[in-house]
Amino acid sequence: MDRTFLMVKPDGVQRGLIGEIVARLENKGLKIVAAKFEKLPEERVMEHYAEHVEKPFFPGLKSYITSGPCFLMVWEGKNVVSITRQMIGATNPAEAVPGTIRGDYALEIGMNVIHGSDSTETAEREISIHFKPEEISGYERIDEKFLY
Ligand code: PPS
Repeated sequence: MDRTFLMVKPDGVQRGLIGEIVARLENKGLKIVAAKFEKLPEERVMEHYAEHVEKPFFPGLKSYITSGPCFLMVWEGKNVVSITRQMIGATNPAEAVPGTIRGDYALEIGMNVIHGSDSTETAEREISIHFKPEEISGYERIDEKFLY
């Protein structure tokens, strides 16, 4: 089954949006297989956002992401990467359509509530940056036979 890495960013945590976000994803039929609450060390932020470290927005992004704890998750499901990207909405909340997480809960790119892997390759990389294999636990959802 496909997997992705999702992270409620510090603004989402501090606004009490973890429950709402997890509920949306669970209600969709996706399965949470790992989660932890953590203030990310600077080195891990550099590794996670490696392709953006030279970009002008990176210093702001780094101080935002390290400003408080994040809620890190691994989710599983058929086409989970593209489905969660659609549910999250456009990177810039000003362009995110209503009904998406950013469309409903955010205003600015500098405070866009949640991160989601943008491809299965990125998901694999990001999961391995943040989770050890033994921190991920598969199980069967009771409603699985009605989902697939
Ligand atoms: S790019 O340059 O188009 O590749 O960048 P983009 O894909 O739009 O964004 C990459 C990640 O950087 C975050 N970002 C920002 N954070 C804070 N402030 C500003 N101005 C900003 N611009 C981009 C953006 O949310 C992406 O992070 P994730 O965690 O994937 O959402």
